[in-house]
Amino acid sequence: MEEKKIVVAIDGPAGAGKSTVARAAAERIGLPYLDTGALYRAIAWKLSKEGIPPEDGGGISKALASFRLEFSPGGITADGMDVTAAIRTPEIDGIVSAYAARAEVRDALIELQRAQAKNGLVADGRDMGTVVFPDAELKIFLTASAEERARRRYKERLERGEAADYDEILKQVAERDNYDMTREIAPLRPAPGCIVLDSSDMDAAQVTEAISSLALRFMEQDIR
Ligand code: CDP
Repeated sequence: MEEKKIVVAIDGPAGAGKSTVARAAAERIGLPYLDTGALYRAIAWKLSKEGIPPEDGGGISKALASFRLEFSPGGITADGMDVTAAIRTPEIDGIVSAYAARAEVRDALIELQRAQAKNGLVADGRDMGTVVFPDAELKIFLTASAEERARRRYKERLERGEAADYDEILKQVAERDNYDMTREIAPLRPAPGCIVLDSSDMDAAQVTEAISSLALRFMEQDIR
């Protein structure tokens, strides 16, 4: 049976496990994976490094006009520099949402994101199903309790050999969710027609399996 190149849009709050399961599901079903959070993180990294605050719309537009963002195998480069690790720090966690709320930033990324979908893809972020890929064949809203999400992030940091404070992470996760859900442009919310998956009591393998089997059924065109 011929397989369709579909778009799988995965949205949800911080630490829900989106990138882990989106990456694994993409590999399983043979589609490219797009980590849109990495794009926002790289922009926050660049703008903060240049001393341009989130309030400075003019400065942001000017800086982004000459900014080059590219995906590398397993990572991302900014103006040719590998920033894969530099964008996953508590500092970037703390500032990324303020930059991501700006129209200048979001507008700069829309076409770049859509251009990746020519051969289908699995993409994760905050506005995949609502704004960037509203016609996606499969839309998932992946969530989990704030405590469970903070616990996962805490574990991730320890596994990377970094210092971590659970209460601080819980506070930051809640603050970032609030920021992402209440912003004016492209707020985080379940897209119309999405499937809501609460992963509080599921491990990554179970969530990957659930999403992959749904996607494979769409690709084989036996549900529509
Ligand atoms: O991995 P985690 O869930 O912590 O975050 P991420 O997916 O790397 O995204 C980091 C931040 O970028 C989010 O908190 C949002 O503020 C912003 N973001 C967004 O606004 N839209 C997207 N499509 C992806 C990320």
